[in-house]
Amino acid sequence: VMKIGILTSGGDAPGLNAVIRGIVYTGIATGKCEQFVGFKNGWKGVVDGDTMPLGRHEIKGIHKQGGTILGTSRTNPFDGNGGVERINEVMRENGLDAIIAIGGEGTLAAAKRLTDAGINIVGVPKTVDNDLDATDYTFGFDTAVQIATDAMDRLRTTGDSHGRCMIAEVMGRHVGWIALHSGMAAGAHAILIPEQKTSVDQIISWVTSAHDRGRAPLVVVAEGFSLDSMDDPHSERGLDAFGRPRLGGIGELLAPIIEERTGIETRATTLGHIQRGGTPSAYDRVLATRLGMAALDAAIAGRWGHMVGLRGTDIITVPFADALGKLKTVPQARYDEARILFG
Ligand code: F6P
Repeated sequence: VMKIGILTSGGDAPGLNAVIRGIVYTGIATGKCEQFVGFKNGWKGVVDGDTMPLGRHEIKGIHKQGGTILGTSRTNPFDGNGGVERINEVMRENGLDAIIAIGGEGTLAAAKRLTDAGINIVGVPKTVDNDLDATDYTFGFDTAVQIATDAMDRLRTTGDSHGRCMIAEVMGRHVGWIALHSGMAAGAHAILIPEQKTSVDQIISWVTSAHDRGRAPLVVVAEGFSLDSMDDPHSERGLDAFGRPRLGGIGELLAPIIEERTGIETRATTLGHIQRGGTPSAYDRVLATRLGMAALDAAIAGRWGHMVGLRGTDIITVPFADALGKLKTVPQARYDEARILFG
């Protein structure tokens, strides 16, 4: 019978604990695998041989908890004292046959390299940004969208009271999925995402049009959105439109530009890590649990070098080689659809 090590790596996302529970519970309940070991803090725990027991007791009720009971880090298993030989050694010391690695693009790329070197690994994709191509959705995304939507509903009421333009900056380093979904859900008057080049003039026109219709304009911007350099005369000097040093992200950059150009008082709020904290939504718990269950099955079947994913409503397995290196960006049609609602 197999003994499997589990790790969570990269930025956390609500649902990580549900994946861990899905793996361990399925193994124990079906009798397919009854021995698990948790590596602490991602690949760091693998390289350092830092483990914790993972059994019925440890996983009890954890699907409801945010974060990860294993801890996480952005450590690369090839850095420092790491590498194939060290990982083989730690696996031997712990009597492990395989590793299930739960992580994003970086984690899975490392997992691919290790699998190519003969280490038995199955991957579970994780990104709150929802930007991995080989899966329709990742757990944590739904929770983040709900948190961002709730936040914008709140920004709305205070914006309405003061007649202000409110900007919500949401996560999304490379893609605008959280901005698109939360912006649609909250009824934003402008959604700004990295995939769509948008001029300041266009943003001003959306804000003004909402204001003219008696609304407190609500703008949602993904953190990875940037203005064309042509549009942003202040960026090179690192100053805002009032000549003050720019400290914050894109929301903080946009606020004075909008205020200056429209005369509407404008405030920016960066939601930041609030979007990754707290309990996962029911959808994310179910998705994460199913991915965990499928990862255990993939390991039992010896599907090394594969990750599990969601296609439609089915859980599938995809070779790392086919899954990596492709960002899932917001398609033009999805943006155009949302844009109709800006008014
Ligand atoms: O990739 C997920 C993500 O949440 C991004 O949206 C964000 O830019 C980044 O991680 C934040 O990273 P950290 O938690 O290391 O500050």
